[in-house]
Amino acid sequence: MTDQADESVDVLTEISMAEQLAARVQSLHLPQIERHLFLCADQSKPLCCDRQHSLAVWDYLKRRITELQLGDRVFRTKANCLRVCLAGPILVIYPDRVWYHSVTESVIERILREHVIGGQIVSEYVLTAPKLP
Ligand code: FES
Repeated sequence: MTDQADESVDVLTEISMAEQLAARVQSLHLPQIERHLFLCADQSKPLCCDRQHSLAVWDYLKRRITELQLGDRVFRTKANCLRVCLAGPILVIYPDRVWYHSVTESVIERILREHVIGGQIVSEYVLTAPKLP
């Protein structure tokens, strides 16, 4: 191939990548995401709780986000470790900066209904949160 042909391929590749990224942004609803939940689960060193327990909580979180139709405004990520390493699983919600401890399936249910949908922090399980006005 000539240099000019190489440049054409590069430009096409860049356009293709830009189109793929734009499509990915839309399919993940990134502009509409309001909150991002990180859960310590499936840890390589399970220090805060039993790994199987963390996976059960993670599966529940994923399922309930779908069932409650929150997937277009709530992102969730499984974190290997959130560095607290006690009283887990640990969950943090951004941009709220609210950290929860001892998260079970029933606590996840309350966090989704009361905090994510209702805007009220579930105080019994708060590890730390910004001071409320
Ligand atoms: S292992 Fe869960 S916070 Fe570190």
